[in-house]
Amino acid sequence: MGLCFICLQAPAQQKTNADSIREKMQWFADAKLGIFIHWGIYSVNGIDESWSFHNKKISYPDYMKQLSRFTASAYKPEAWAALIKESGARYAVITTKHHDGVALWPTKQNHFNVVDNTPAKRDLLKPFYAALDRQGIKRGAYFSLIDWSHPDYPGFLNDSSRYKVADDPARWERFQHFFQAQINEINLAYKPDLWWFDGDWEHSADEWQAKKVKEDILKINPAAIVNGRLQGFGDYETPEQNFPVSRPPFNWWELCMTTNNNWGYHPDDTNYKTPFEVISIFADVVGNGGNLLLDIGPKEDGSIPAEQIHILKELGKWNKKHAEAVFGTLPGLPAGHFYGPSTLSKDSVTLYLFLPDRSAGDIMIKGLSNKIKDVEIVGESQHLSPKIVGKISWSPVPGLVFIHVPGKFKDEYMTVLKVSLQGRLKLYRGQGGLK
Ligand code: GLC
Repeated sequence: MGLCFICLQAPAQQKTNADSIREKMQWFADAKLGIFIHWGIYSVNGIDESWSFHNKKISYPDYMKQLSRFTASAYKPEAWAALIKESGARYAVITTKHHDGVALWPTKQNHFNVVDNTPAKRDLLKPFYAALDRQGIKRGAYFSLIDWSHPDYPGFLNDSSRYKVADDPARWERFQHFFQAQINEINLAYKPDLWWFDGDWEHSADEWQAKKVKEDILKINPAAIVNGRLQGFGDYETPEQNFPVSRPPFNWWELCMTTNNNWGYHPDDTNYKTPFEVISIFADVVGNGGNLLLDIGPKEDGSIPAEQIHILKELGKWNKKHAEAVFGTLPGLPAGHFYGPSTLSKDSVTLYLFLPDRSAGDIMIKGLSNKIKDVEIVGESQHLSPKIVGKISWSPVPGLVFIHVPGKFKDEYMTVLKVSLQGRLKLYRGQGGLK
């Protein structure tokens, strides 16, 4: 769903000047991993979040009947936060309101919410954000600008809408007041560190008053980060489900991705990614300078499906062992030097190589001009000796570095080598020969 393939092809140019936000973006750049949570009444039937009625797979009245069975009866926000911590994630983003308009907090704007309209009967955001605080995890708020349930919102079903903005500007203005008041409520009550807007494609920056929305957020929380779905007024790009092949040219970007093929709880979807696949994708994203926002979809009672818990725990185990190679690093070698992802320490003197091949073998680095001080297997305190091959004494072109990695030290998912360099990373990028 969404338009993210397009985001990657032709990124919406964010209007913010990168240097002016570099400082506030630092925690995000270092964080690398966030957990996305899609939780809403769609988990009652286990159907597509909001899109199921919009695309007429279910009637709107039947979709809204899920309100009466959304209980949150087994919701343990402390356990959620502990699991997120265990995964290694540094931030979490929860759906405060999806396109169906049902708020997870007691909104005062006279609109659907879990406190007044479901048996859950309580604010579901407050205890979760408090639990995140206790774990030292940054709070993110997904907020859908689209609200297909609101009487003053034009869009409704995929083949019918309530009205056109141009025909009834006063009605649209009422909606502007409404959604901005909701944003303000969240901002005052929970002060999110990160805003994750969605659905901006249905209206222009002017119609959303995107500039004002951003300014109002920053007035209350000047350090808040805003994702790239606010019609050009975000701080970073959000390619969705589509994996970049060449390194995205953005200062900050975040791949949002599901653990199976759906955002919300979908018991009929068993097409889960394996921990190995998730870790491979994660390493690739980090090596290319991005973050991964990995999604889970809790059930209506607030319990998290076992397959998702398994993925988060395995990822966490791997993250714990390889933390120094992942968190707080810089993007690694450009394509062509090493067959696999890599990262670089902030001082650029340590290179981390992620070995996609789980069997024993030799790896090769091309064009590395630095002398190597040491090679170590991360998390194993095992040192390895590099062999320099084909160095021609009279040529400036560096030799190839071969490193033999014995099979017995291979990580269950992905082994990482720590290559300590003499001086800051220096690469030869030529075509061989004399140059
Ligand atoms: C899409 C969808 C939405 C989902 C979101 C997550 O834009 O509209 O259902 O929540 O992507 O990235």
